[in-house]
Amino acid sequence: MLPLLTFLLSLPATLAIDTTSRPSVNAELKLAATNLDRHHILAKDSDWTFDFQSRPNYHAAPGSVINANAATFPALTGVGLTLATLNLGPCAMLPPHLHPRATNVVVAVKGNTTSWMVGENGVRTVSVQLTEGVMTIFPAGTLHFMQNNDCQPAQLISALNSEDAGTLNILNALWTFSPETVKAAFGNAELDTETLGQRIPQPGTGANLGSFECLKRCGLDAREGIKE
Ligand SMILES: *[C@@H]1O[C@H](CO)[C@@H](O)[C@H](O)[C@H]1NC(C)=O
Repeated sequence: MLPLLTFLLSLPATLAIDTTSRPSVNAELKLAATNLDRHHILAKDSDWTFDFQSRPNYHAAPGSVINANAATFPALTGVGLTLATLNLGPCAMLPPHLHPRATNVVVAVKGNTTSWMVGENGVRTVSVQLTEGVMTIFPAGTLHFMQNNDCQPAQLISALNSEDAGTLNILNALWTFSPETVKAAFGNAELDTETLGQRIPQPGTGANLGSFECLKRCGLDAREGIKE
């Protein structure tokens, strides 16, 4: 195997990043003049399917986000679409994040998931219940997160209008800035912001455990490291 590929595959999945699976196919598709040319590049039937359930994190606890996008499914190159499955175990959440290059719609297949969204300074924070068949929209750049309130698993389907939507987990992002300025942004409060930053879970599979209220209600143990 190519040394670069070996290196990329060995990176820990701590940041929920999709590694480009077949960059040369993306490149060829971008250069294709016609749909006929695309078919010559996507020559096998298997180039036209993406199996969400066979992805390594699909069944991961406490939950997972599996993206079919240009990185993972090259047939989407130039199509302007990402489709994702969101599996949220009991009380699992997708931590606060935004998509810099896409509007996102999410429809619940099963479960009862609450989502929160805020688009810019001055607008109100929108919160909705995503029960079976209910969809919401997170316009491009809006900060949003969601939690499965149930003690049963929830599943949702997420669609984004870019094959390279990008995801920014804002808590993890905030603590990449200088510790002194992060502390200042908190009003130089008597708060150990550096330790606080180290405690933020990496969104390895896209999902984290949700609130104590839910975990307690469902008789689940909070993961070590959250408890004081
Ligand atoms: C979903 O959960 C919320 C509380 O989080 C509750 O108010 C609502 O009744 C639930 N909806 C259904 C259909 O169970």
